[in-house]
Amino acid sequence: MSLIKKIKNRKSKIGVIGLGYVGLPLAIEFTNAGFEVVGIDLDEKKVNQINNGFNYINDVDSNILKNAVENNILSASSDFSIVDNLDAISICVPTPLNKQKNPDISYIVSVMDNIKHRVHKDMLIILESTTYPGSTRELILPYLENNGFTIGVDFFLCFSPERIDPGNEKYNTSNTPKIIGGITEQCTKVGHTLYNTIVKTVIPVSSTETAEMVKLLENTFRAINIGLANEVAIMCEKLGINVWEVIEAAATKPFGFMKFLPGPGLGGHCIPIDPYYLSWKLKSLDYDARFIQLAGEINTNMPNHVLNLVSMHLNNQHKLLNGSKILILGIAYKKDINDIRESPALDIIQLLIEAKATINYYDMYVPNINFNKISLKSVKSLKKEKLNNYDACIIVTDHSNVDYELIYNNCQLIIDTRNVFKNKSGNHLKRLGQG
Ligand SMILES: NC(=O)c1ccc[n+]([C@@H]2O[C@H](COP(=O)([O-])OP(=O)(O)OC[C@H]3O[C@@H](n4cnc5c(N)ncnc54)[C@H](O)[C@@H]3O)[C@@H](O)[C@H]2O)c1
Repeated sequence: MSLIKKIKNRKSKIGVIGLGYVGLPLAIEFTNAGFEVVGIDLDEKKVNQINNGFNYINDVDSNILKNAVENNILSASSDFSIVDNLDAISICVPTPLNKQKNPDISYIVSVMDNIKHRVHKDMLIILESTTYPGSTRELILPYLENNGFTIGVDFFLCFSPERIDPGNEKYNTSNTPKIIGGITEQCTKVGHTLYNTIVKTVIPVSSTETAEMVKLLENTFRAINIGLANEVAIMCEKLGINVWEVIEAAATKPFGFMKFLPGPGLGGHCIPIDPYYLSWKLKSLDYDARFIQLAGEINTNMPNHVLNLVSMHLNNQHKLLNGSKILILGIAYKKDINDIRESPALDIIQLLIEAKATINYYDMYVPNINFNKISLKSVKSLKKEKLNNYDACIIVTDHSNVDYELIYNNCQLIIDTRNVFKNKSGNHLKRLGQG
C-alpha cells in the first residue's frame, strides 16, 4: 500500500519526537484523527507521565490524553528502536540559542543520529522545530541520502512550522492553518495528506526553505513590531503622553495598522529567539539583518528600563533600590500560562537582586523558580496587611486571576508594565509608557 493510501486509511503509525509544548498537542491531534501514535522523548519523566495517562501541558485536554492512553492509541518511549515500525515522524525538539546567540541545532542533529539507521523506505519525516532557511535540506536530507534513499520516490521529507500559541482559547493546532513545504513536490503532497487529517487548512509552499522562512517572517514581524511599540512607549514617557491610549486610538483605524503592545521585554521559546536564526544565516551570506538587531536591542533592554522606572519612582519617595522590598507580580512570560522560558521577569529579578533589593514574587502558575543561582518560591497568597510592607509592586505578567483591586488599594508604589490599571490613576500608580 502506498504511504498516501496508508495515511488516508489511518493505517500508518505516527511518531512525534519531542513531547513538549508543540509535540504533545500534535500527538493528541493525530490520535483524535484516528492514528496510532508513539511519542519519543529523552525525558523519562514525561514518558512515564504520558504512559500513566497524566497530562503536563495546559493546552492539552487531560481527558482526551487519558482516554487515548487507555485505548492504546497513544504511548511514549525513550527508545528510538520504535522508529523501525513508524510510517511518519514529526520532529518537535528545541531549537534554542547558545551563549553567543547563535542557533543551537544540536537537538535536531542528536535526533537524526539516533534515527539514521532506523528510518526505512516509504517513510515521511516532517521537521517542525523552528530553524534557519536551509536546515531541513542541509541537516536532515544528507542522513537519508546516505541510506541510499531517493528523496521524493521512496522517502519523503518536509518542513512544517508549528504556529501554536499557548493559552490561546480560540486557535489551537487543528484550527490554525498550517504551512508545509517538501524537498520535492511529491514530498509536499505526502506531508500535505498527513497534516490534512489533523488541520483544516494546510497551505503547501514550493520548498522547505520557503516554509522555514515563513515561520521566521511571522516571528520576526512580531519581534520588530513589539520593538517598535516598546520604543514608542519610551518616547511617550519622554513626551508625557500615555502610550496605551495612543495605541488604542491608532487601532481604531480599520486598515493599515495592527496593534502591538509594549511590555517589560520578550519571553518564550519563539519571539526572542527565532529572529536570531535568520540574522545568523544572513551573516553567513555577508548581510546584516539590521531591523532584527535593532528590535533585539530595544526588546532586551526593556527589563533595564523597568528597573530604571522603579529606581526613579522610589527615588521620588526618598528611597533607594538598595534595601527596598519589592513584590513581582507574574513570572510566566505571558498571561495565564506557566512557561517561564526567557521570561523578562527573570531578568528583572536578577537586576533587582544585583541592586540589593529584597524580592518576593507571586504567580499562581509558577510555584518556584531556580535560575542563575537564584531560588525563590511564590508567596502563597496576596494579603492586604502584607502588601503594605512592600516599597514597590511591579506588574510583570497580567494573569487574569489576580485581585488587582487589592493591589491598587494596598501597595505603596505600583509599576504597571501591562496597563492592567487602564482606568485608574493615583500618585502611587506609575505606568510603563506614560512618564
Ligand atoms: N512553544 C511554542 O509556543 C512554540 C511555538 C511554535 C514553534 N515552536 C518551536 O517548536 C520546537 C519545540 O518547542 P517546544 O516549546 O515544544 O519545546 P519543549 O522544550 O517544550 O519540548 C521539546 C521536547 O523535546 C525533548 N527532546 C530534546 N531533545 C530530544 C531528543 N534528542 N530526542 C527526543 N526528545 C528530545 C525534550 O525533552 C522536550 O520534552 C522549537 O523549535 C520551537 O521553536 C515552539
